[in-house]
Amino acid sequence: MRTAHTITDLRKALQPLRRDGRRVGLVPTMGALHDGHWSLVEQARRSCETVVASIFVNPLQFSPGEDYEAYPRVLDDDVAGCAQRGCDVVFAPAPGEMYPSPPLARVAVRGLSERLCGRTRTGHFDGVATVVAKLFNVVQPDAAYFGEKDYQQLVVIRRMVRDLNMPIDVVSCPTVRDPDGMALSSRNAYLDADQRSHARLISAALYEAVESVRSGERDGRRVLAEAGRRLAADPVLQVEYVEIVHPKTLEPVARIDHPARLCVAARVDAVRLIDNMLLDPTERAE
Ligand code: PAF
Repeated sequence: MRTAHTITDLRKALQPLRRDGRRVGLVPTMGALHDGHWSLVEQARRSCETVVASIFVNPLQFSPGEDYEAYPRVLDDDVAGCAQRGCDVVFAPAPGEMYPSPPLARVAVRGLSERLCGRTRTGHFDGVATVVAKLFNVVQPDAAYFGEKDYQQLVVIRRMVRDLNMPIDVVSCPTVRDPDGMALSSRNAYLDADQRSHARLISAALYEAVESVRSGERDGRRVLAEAGRRLAADPVLQVEYVEIVHPKTLEPVARIDHPARLCVAARVDAVRLIDNMLLDPTERAE
């Protein structure tokens, strides 16, 4: 496996690996890699001969006061993990390599970026779309792999690729969860055991909503009220939003007659967590 820190080195490393129509898969990450990321690498390996993982904590997607400085950086461990899981190349640029000067050209996926997390994280999805577009231009992958855990990000990137005619398959991969139901996230590392016991109520509320739709509930307001009640009952969790949205437009959905996404953002003290699950009215309880 090769590790490239510059765009020139990455292009050199990829040149021979692209020959004979070999498919290149990209797994974009910010590092602190966990089983959720490894599932993306695994998925990429199944359909691509060459797998590139990028590791870059993108300053553009953090607002002032967010955790850019504190974000976990464990590059040596990440690179070793990538080698072990069969990545061919790791691209780990420094901020100055990706942004030699403040970028004047940026990508904005309007509307979708302003919903859900976009209401409080102003500019976040413009930062994500811009860096992902740059990574796509630099790596030129045939396919790119994203987790459903960051559902809004996935929808924004799919729309960017469609609107800008980028010749890339965006592949979504299911959220990987701990045995207690919590979605894996690099930010879980910020939680101590007590905080975690509050955080896991988020997935518990989501599972309960999924079950209620499986049992025949179709009224979105009732599902939301129940999930909201459960989360609000916890003295530590501070709910930012609980919403049922259309899976592509992210617009609120009142009746669950078609598959929809239940999305939650909440804080446990200073740690902001997000999670979501599919509400599928075509699935029936046994
Ligand atoms: O999901 C992430 O880790 C980041 O938002 C991404 C897609 C790597 C862009 O920085």
